[in-house]
Amino acid sequence: MTTNLPFSITLKHILSSFASLVLITLFFITRTSFSPSSSIQPPDNKTLRISNSSTGTKSHSQESVSCNKIPPSLADALIHYAASNVTPQQTHSEISVTKKVLEKKSPCNFLVFGLGYDSLMWSTLNYGGRTIFLEENESWIRQIAEKFPSLESYHVRYNTKVRDAEALMAAARDKEECHSVSTDPRVSACDLALKGLPEVVYETEWDLIMVDAPTGFHEEALGRMTAIYTAGMMARRWKDEGETTDVFVHDVDRKVEDEFSMADYLTEQEGRLRHFTVPSHRGYGVSGGKLCP
Ligand SMILES: *[C@@H]1O[C@H](CO)[C@@H](O)[C@H](O)[C@H]1NC(C)=O
Ligand SMILES: *[C@@H]1O[C@H](CO)[C@@H](O)[C@H](O)[C@H]1NC(C)=O
Ligand SMILES: *[C@@H]1O[C@H](CO)[C@@H](O)[C@H](O)[C@H]1NC(C)=O
Repeated sequence: MTTNLPFSITLKHILSSFASLVLITLFFITRTSFSPSSSIQPPDNKTLRISNSSTGTKSHSQESVSCNKIPPSLADALIHYAASNVTPQQTHSEISVTKKVLEKKSPCNFLVFGLGYDSLMWSTLNYGGRTIFLEENESWIRQIAEKFPSLESYHVRYNTKVRDAEALMAAARDKEECHSVSTDPRVSACDLALKGLPEVVYETEWDLIMVDAPTGFHEEALGRMTAIYTAGMMARRWKDEGETTDVFVHDVDRKVEDEFSMADYLTEQEGRLRHFTVPSHRGYGVSGGKLCP
């Protein structure tokens, strides 16, 4: 029951999560220092020269500036989690799945359904990239925005309920429009396609999409049917041939999350997190889909 609550606290992972965060942060600092695409440019000469130890002097050459400072936002994130008694909703091993992908793709475009205690972590792990969060609870957005003004989040409305999931799924199976592989969700005739999202969501080519909202732990909750379906659409729609979008669906121990996640491109499952690597279907037109749901 604990982890099925939307903003629940997984206390048993406090220590491992924190240790991992430190490692992750260190990874990014290191990476940042040497990545040419990062906003913090290293000096041209990367060699760290420390004078002959035999001379005993500590005079560093000009090049030694490459020992960069930790960027302030990383420092803030580290301190936040160190001093916080609530930890991200996902377990250490679940987070590690996404971290591995971010190691390769970051800085990149990362779309997250859900705003929570882990949001600062995701945006920090995608340091230098763009991470946006979609959230259905307005007062929660205000609360988090006050605490973490740097996060980019948007309010979204869902018009479904968990109890409608089966009917939605059945209708979608029979409806040809729902099997289209590369339609713009805004013009899709499928009821599962989310239409009211901010423009930026439709216009951005996402590298990663995480579905960890809306709430789905009881029949009256909104459920993730449309979020999962729309994530799949957006993943297939963008990118060039041969490129992929990584999609993550959390809480797949639940019926809706399980049934609606796209089995075709499953790469791995860790705990309650599924990772899909979705190839681009740009230019496939509308035929041939046997995709989610
Ligand atoms: C690095 O330093 C060396 C000597 O200090 C210099 O010859 C070389 O051109 C420098 N490289 C760059 C990329 O500035
Ligand atoms: C470093 O020390 C060695 C002897 O220990 C000396 O021969 C050499 O010239 C020194 N180099 C510099 C840059 O001081
Ligand atoms: C929305 O968030 C607030 C906290 O800001 C919380 O008290 C409330 O229960 C949430 N509403 C729903 C429907 O989850």
